[in-house]
Amino acid sequence: METTQTAPRKTLYSAIQPSGSITLGNYIGALRNFVLLAEDYDCLFCMADLHALTVRQEPAALRRNTQSLAALYIACGIDPEKSIVYCQSHVPEHAELAWILNCFTYMGELSRMTQFKDKSAKHADNINAGLFAYPSLMAADILLYQTNLVPVGADQKQHLELARDIANRLNGLYPGLFTVPEPYISKTSARIMSLSDPTRKMSKSDAEDSYIAVLDTPDVIRRKFRRAVTDSETEIRYDPENKPGVSNLLSIIAALDGITPEEEAVKMQGLQYGALKEAASESVIAVLAPIQERYQQLMGDKEYIQNTLKAGAERAHYLALKTLRKVYKKLGLYQL
Ligand code: TYM
Repeated sequence: METTQTAPRKTLYSAIQPSGSITLGNYIGALRNFVLLAEDYDCLFCMADLHALTVRQEPAALRRNTQSLAALYIACGIDPEKSIVYCQSHVPEHAELAWILNCFTYMGELSRMTQFKDKSAKHADNINAGLFAYPSLMAADILLYQTNLVPVGADQKQHLELARDIANRLNGLYPGLFTVPEPYISKTSARIMSLSDPTRKMSKSDAEDSYIAVLDTPDVIRRKFRRAVTDSETEIRYDPENKPGVSNLLSIIAALDGITPEEEAVKMQGLQYGALKEAASESVIAVLAPIQERYQQLMGDKEYIQNTLKAGAERAHYLALKTLRKVYKKLGLYQL
């Protein structure tokens, strides 16, 4: 008798820190890709609240931002019945595996992380051990679920490479322990730049006018784009090196149109910068409007959010425990 065998689905994992407003950079560089890829994978999407503690958080704001991020995941199109949407601190195995991985991660590796260098410069009064060890917690997030694919923006590439190194190192010592994850970083939209300084990435921890928040109103979006820094020329050309502001606007519109920034530049040729900014505002407003509407509905039903996160945590915990038990056993921790 003939049997048809379907290959097991691969696992996709990603997370966002609930540490402030979710930006257009988070949306274009990460969230949008989560939704595009979700159909083909078993997915987990996490609110990385333990990571957020590496810089000081106001407790009420952290709680609110965590709920808000859960609603945003769903409003953007992630189906929590199919994908696991959960909060990192609800699954204790993350912190437990992070400890183990810390014992296999070198100080030298962690000191080379550019995010650690940037953040310690920004928060010179609070360079804590958690900030230093942040990448091993991130590796734990990923390895705990035997993840195959991790969609992220370009700024997380170095962390992902370290997660792969840690996985390979442990697999060398304890064969078959972890799946080695692959990054998924879009070629053209992985680094959305700040509107006020287009040589730096758009970041939720910078001044408000430098980023578009996914929940900004149309008026605010138009105002921020109108003020976006461009250059003193008049030509619309995609040239990130010499024309970072104009190129950033082209990247944003192109990502939302599903074409390359070079193609977008051809479409926009001959327009004035003002018209380019208006085109950027209108594309962003059109994409965000249905997300914002769904978000408002979801935030009106806190019980639904709570139940969804409870179910997500249970499903994640089941998978996480399986890996953690395997790790403890292989490393020789005494089992009862
Ligand atoms: P976070 O919270 O800073 O950002 C969430 C996601 O958004 C991407 N991103 C951007 N993409 C393009 N342009 C930008 N300007 C931009 N800003 C942010 C980030 O690359 C990221 O994909 N350490 C992670 C969270 C994390 C994680 C994980 C990610 C914790 N554990 C496990 C993947 C797997 C972070 O701080 O992302």
